[in-house]
Amino acid sequence: MAIETEARWVPIAVSCDILDGTVIPARLPTGPIAVWRSASGSLYANGDRCPHRGMRLSQGFVRGETLSCIYHGWRFGADGACQKIPAHPKVSPPKTINCGPLPVTEANGVVWGAATSPVDAPDQFVGHDALRSLVVAASTDAIASACEGEWVGEAIAVTLGGQNTILLLNPYGPAEVLVIALVPRGLTAPDLVRVSTALEALRRSAEAVGEAA
Ligand code: FES
Repeated sequence: MAIETEARWVPIAVSCDILDGTVIPARLPTGPIAVWRSASGSLYANGDRCPHRGMRLSQGFVRGETLSCIYHGWRFGADGACQKIPAHPKVSPPKTINCGPLPVTEANGVVWGAATSPVDAPDQFVGHDALRSLVVAASTDAIASACEGEWVGEAIAVTLGGQNTILLLNPYGPAEVLVIALVPRGLTAPDLVRVSTALEALRRSAEAVGEAA
């Protein structure tokens, strides 16, 4: 995959899917990342590779305000620096051991990440909140074609389940896209179910479009 150096925000997860004290895997165009929320609720992201022996940090665990690797327990802080090496408790880890902190922020109930710090804030969708995410095995063009929506920058505006819905897109590859649906704030539970059901139908249609192409 080509290395992207452009500093732009990419939608990577739904905020409520990352509880306090947990870590999840996510992806930027530059590659896999680990996104974690500390016990106090602060959000962080870093490369998904432990600088020790390359274990995926997204398979680790959060302790207080630090992220620990599942393999040998090296512990990393908010700045990515290694704070503790359990096998050598009297050693202060050199500052060169760092898991590479990445910019991350939240807006509209969406977690946005970037490879390098963008100048501007992520796109704002006033009055909308994230409903859910799903991965579609199709291209962004197939998704747009299947829903007959309108491009709004890098997102698609479409009516799903009778609601004005915004689809944020994070292409994982030519035929795999993370889609995060934003819906108007304050919808009832039945409305949310209708949108979610329509989103699943859209996934099937987009994947059928991709297969037929
Ligand atoms: S591989 Fe992560 S601590 Fe060893």
